Amino acid sequence: MRQKVVIGISPGKPTFFCSAPCFLQLKFLLLPVIKNPYDSPMCGIVAYIGKRPAVPLLVEGLRRLEYRGYDSAGLSTLGNGRLHTRKRVGRVDALATLIREQPIDGSIGISHTRWATHGAPSDANSHPHADASGKITVVHNGVIENYQALKDALVKEGHSFASDTDTEVLAHLIGKHYAEGKLKDERGLLDAARAALRQVVGTYGIAALSSDCPGVIVGARRGSPLVVGIGQGEHFLSSDVNAIVAHTRDVVYLNDYDLVAVRADDFRVERLDEGEARVEISKVAHDAGAAEKGDFPHYMLKEIFEQPQTIQNAMRGRFNRNESSAALGGLNLTSTELRNVDRIIMTACGTSWHAALVGEYLIEEIARVPCEVEYASEFRYRNPPIDKNTLLFAITQSGETADTLAALREAKRKGHKALGICNVVGSTIARESDGGVYLHAGPEVGVASTKAFTAQVTVLALIALLLGRLRHLSAMQGSRFIQELESIPDKITRILKQHDAIREIAAKYKDARDFLFLGRQCNYPVALEGALKLKEISYIHAEGYPAAEMKHGPIALVDEKTPSVFICPQDAIYEKTMSNLEEVRARKGRVIAIATEGDTAISRKADDVIHVPKTIDALYPLLTNIPLQLLAYHIAVQLGRDVDKPRNLAKSVTVE
Ligand code: AGP
Ligand code: GLU
Repeated sequence: MRQKVVIGISPGKPTFFCSAPCFLQLKFLLLPVIKNPYDSPMCGIVAYIGKRPAVPLLVEGLRRLEYRGYDSAGLSTLGNGRLHTRKRVGRVDALATLIREQPIDGSIGISHTRWATHGAPSDANSHPHADASGKITVVHNGVIENYQALKDALVKEGHSFASDTDTEVLAHLIGKHYAEGKLKDERGLLDAARAALRQVVGTYGIAALSSDCPGVIVGARRGSPLVVGIGQGEHFLSSDVNAIVAHTRDVVYLNDYDLVAVRADDFRVERLDEGEARVEISKVAHDAGAAEKGDFPHYMLKEIFEQPQTIQNAMRGRFNRNESSAALGGLNLTSTELRNVDRIIMTACGTSWHAALVGEYLIEEIARVPCEVEYASEFRYRNPPIDKNTLLFAITQSGETADTLAALREAKRKGHKALGICNVVGSTIARESDGGVYLHAGPEVGVASTKAFTAQVTVLALIALLLGRLRHLSAMQGSRFIQELESIPDKITRILKQHDAIREIAAKYKDARDFLFLGRQCNYPVALEGALKLKEISYIHAEGYPAAEMKHGPIALVDEKTPSVFICPQDAIYEKTMSNLEEVRARKGRVIAIATEGDTAISRKADDVIHVPKTIDALYPLLTNIPLQLLAYHIAVQLGRDVDKPRNLAKSVTVE
């Protein structure tokens, strides 16, 4: 089957066709980049056009997106020139049941899992949404911020709406422009989508179908990922390569402001406004299995146990042993530029923000470079003074978190060097950064981030080593640091062997209504991270504090019903942390201690102890965090929580 890739140079102008050989040349020309892409959106789009029945492919694709968190699902297909839509609140199973009861056919279709932003989860608010004519349906990831003004104008023109969503407004807008346009075909649909999206303020990843032109699916993206899957005589469109990697590994990551017309045998990429579309054909490096649970009951547990391997992956090929330093070519900075860095700002959200806090301790301790850590949602509006020798890092697993992306863009808008530390290759932040470091942690599917956190800390340790060795760190110190970093995976393996013991500890504390997590120095961010892990999957209230901060108020919370988890390795401030532990004990507080192997004294003070191997102070967070991941996991499982898809959460927050 001759394969065509069509690249639209700009709206309405001659497009660039090529046949299969050219396609291959094009691939060669474009130097397919081996990517290890997987998705991140909090909800999902899967679309198919080809010769196979669409419904099974769409439902299977939606199931692969299930871990992303959503509240409803739906699909539309075109069969015998007629548009059929089935949508239902609840899980994909509910949609599959509906389709079994009311089957639909067709070899072209669009589908969606929704994470509601406008309009409660309901059948009516589920996607796809139709336009006024009923001939066009649309699925959408993102937020149309000016939807109310657009809706009011459409209502004045006589439109009526069946849902409370912003997406339905977009559907009507596309339908309006299509009805008013001269062309009633693929070109007309693409131009109608362009005209409508030019009126939109906000973010979108969309797929649209029309019964007028059954040979095409139209897509577009701005701020919400969308990728074309290239098959033989069939094509896919999805927000998440995991949904389609079972069918093709040849993909094109669309860029913001791209529009695409996808047909069975080719696709055409154009720009929302003038300008040339940039099409890079990538090869997905992982197979569908990489994002599977395997023998584990939950993705989260699998990913916790992957950490010895993923930390090795994060370090692999990144040591310069001759110079007792790190090798991070992706930073795109010369040694002189790195030596001139006199301030680092790290911006992130959630767990990635906790990793950044650990990074602050690491970089200041080892490289003596002042660091600040900023919540991305704050940084993007704060407008801090940044000079030319300030280096900004956006730290993110998904590479799609809206606030982190906005913070990166804000820094770049002001001309600053903005680097990314990211897991998802091909993600927006990875592609918009001026350089950076990939985590190589593989697909992180569980909503609660685990292996990404330790991989981020590992990369930050490498950055600290690199900067340190360009300043005052001696070769001997560098070698010692490398040696200790390389011992971490085996040490984590030893901690994971306490899995059953930790499950028993979890059983003792699972009914508590509040937890305190306490640590000092680089274990204070571990306390924050432990508290976040627990609360986001077990729904138990938990707070992390610097251990010494207890005396300034939080100790009032201590009683026999409120367990305190002390991260208390035998580091330089061990005695101080032990004093805080005693203060809690004196008030009948129950204590779980994370302690260093061989520390028998702490067993006389704490109700339960989980030991971690000894390491250098700065690297303890890579170890002390592991028991907290398992503690949170087992408490949540014993409480019957949906560990991989906790309520209200999504894997990546692509709305602001
Ligand atoms: C962590 O367990 C949460 N899922 C959440 O806090 C997450 O870390 C945050 O949304 C940032 O996501 P990112 O790393 O993909 O940017
Ligand atoms: N804003 C749209 C809605 O609320 C889409 C949300 C999503 O990204 O799933 O329906």
